[in-house]
Amino acid sequence: MSRRIIKSLPDMGKARNRMDSPKTVREPLIVPPAVAEFGKGRAYLIKTFGCQGNVRDEEILAGYLEAAGMHRTEIESEAGLVIINTCAVRENAEDKVYGEIGKFKVNHQKDPSFVLCVCGCMMQETGVAEKLVKSYPYVNLIFGTHNLSNILSLLDERLARKKDLVDVLSYPGDIVENLPSIRLDAYKAFVNIGYGCDKFCTYCIVPYTRGRERSRAREDIIKECQELVEEGYQEITLLGQNVNSYGKDFHDGTSFATILEDVAKLGIPRLRFMTSHPWDFSDEMLDVIAKYDNIMPCIHLPVQSGSTTMLRRMGRRYTREQYLDLVRRIREKIPGCALTTDIIVGFPNETEEEFEDTLTLCEEVKYDAAFTFLYSPRKGTPAAALEDDVPDEVKHERFNRLLKVVEAGVMSHSSQMVGKTYKVLVDGPSKKNERVLSGYTETNKLVNFEGPAYLKGQIVDVEIVEDHAFSMIGKLTKDPLIILAEKAAESLKEEPEAIAFLEAKKAVEESPSLIELRGQIEKAQKAMVQKAADSDDEAYEKAKNEYLSLMNSYKKDPVVLNYEARKDDLEELLRIVKGTLS
Ligand code: SAH
Ligand code: SF4
Ligand code: F3S
Repeated sequence: MSRRIIKSLPDMGKARNRMDSPKTVREPLIVPPAVAEFGKGRAYLIKTFGCQGNVRDEEILAGYLEAAGMHRTEIESEAGLVIINTCAVRENAEDKVYGEIGKFKVNHQKDPSFVLCVCGCMMQETGVAEKLVKSYPYVNLIFGTHNLSNILSLLDERLARKKDLVDVLSYPGDIVENLPSIRLDAYKAFVNIGYGCDKFCTYCIVPYTRGRERSRAREDIIKECQELVEEGYQEITLLGQNVNSYGKDFHDGTSFATILEDVAKLGIPRLRFMTSHPWDFSDEMLDVIAKYDNIMPCIHLPVQSGSTTMLRRMGRRYTREQYLDLVRRIREKIPGCALTTDIIVGFPNETEEEFEDTLTLCEEVKYDAAFTFLYSPRKGTPAAALEDDVPDEVKHERFNRLLKVVEAGVMSHSSQMVGKTYKVLVDGPSKKNERVLSGYTETNKLVNFEGPAYLKGQIVDVEIVEDHAFSMIGKLTKDPLIILAEKAAESLKEEPEAIAFLEAKKAVEESPSLIELRGQIEKAQKAMVQKAADSDDEAYEKAKNEYLSLMNSYKKDPVVLNYEARKDDLEELLRIVKGTLS
């Protein structure tokens, strides 16, 4: 009898279908008892390839595993459960995955209860799961992007039936909310606003691996973002394969501009989004970005090619001129906005002229950063069926020419940054040198500068001193301890102790009877001084008693007593803050 059960396999032909709008399900998380038993004290390791969408999936998978009692490890030999979270966007991403799977064969020999899972976009491709089963029989659990939230029940089933499982669905099904999650960063968070893609660019596998476009309900997005703000997150990136499509499936006027504005209003210090397709980038979106200081002036706007004929073959739905017009409108409405892009070189039958159009477009736009890719045919996509007459060496030569043009554009921006001061969100000490911090400017430039680790998660002013094109060297403009003290004072303003103190102080200042009493005390004080100057001992004694009795009534006034108590509370809080700072 086989030791493996194939529950379902994906079919990219079916995955192309776009079915009715999905429901949202909000069910509580249940950990099956056998999985809790299996999870107790077990270390898990997740290796993620691909885009931010996959990184967010890793956080959700980690949420499920930790709910089942497991803890994270980065040490491969220690892991009692491994998940390899794959990407299918280019062939080289896939090649890396096979190497990774092979590494974990030894874990089975050490620990018979070890479980190796493979999931993610690659599993959604027709034939890949079958290939894995044949060539890597020690993989225990294969699932896809659409049933990631079933991980605990799949593990339960595997434990109960004592068989390996393959379960990859062709359709996305419902939108699942209340997902558990262990975020990988304490200050920067990704929030999905929608899943899937309906654009079907002819080279791209994502619409098949991630399914039809579906937007998360506004209330679920707002709830997640509100919680992040309350937890002290400094940056949220709204995620979608094409964020501009957000809300179109609700047919009620909701758009990306509306959700972007709603999230900006929650007061997160930095708000970003990705990715925007140039085809449906509205002017309304530009207005919202321009209106809110906390929406970062940085837009990732993949162009893919600068040639209209090529863009048509890629199925991109815009022309070179329309793209350049959008760039012009962005720069007009959001001065200083950084623009980044993705470019594919070597799409089938790319002519020299078409390629040069890409070069001239890059020269004109001068991107702040560009991710350049060699075209990789993806089985099942329309472009994969095209014959190609361009030799590989021509593609590589074009790729190198493009890099030079991109670099010149990047440097035209970075060289102008030297001598100026920018707000940088500190990621923490750099891997190479713990005294060097790294972080990103509002326009997403990487800056390295000397500073203490306690500035992690703070937004600080950094002056740029050296330009290294793709990263900058800077220096803090203020003493780091002062920065921290200022931030503490700023956040103290919101503390209940500080608010109560200020209210009590105001009550003392504004109470009519206390104003009157303060007047009498002042008079009594003056009389006392006068009598002392006159050397009239008896009159001095009388004036002094009068003064002390007035002071006594002042101190016993309930409004003053309340003020003193609130002052003590505030001082106690300040002592705690001082202890944290020193
Ligand atoms: N939805 C996003 C991300 C898609 S994948 C977007 O539209 O921008 C990220 C990038 O990978 C794409 O922008 C594209 O430049 C590149 N890419 C996608 N398919 C590719 C392929 N078959 N070969 C080479 N690069 C590809
Ligand atoms: Fe792929 Fe195009 Fe969708 Fe981006 S917009 S995910 S490139 S199909
Ligand atoms: Fe890769 Fe899937 Fe993202 S194919 S780029 S992990 S959507």
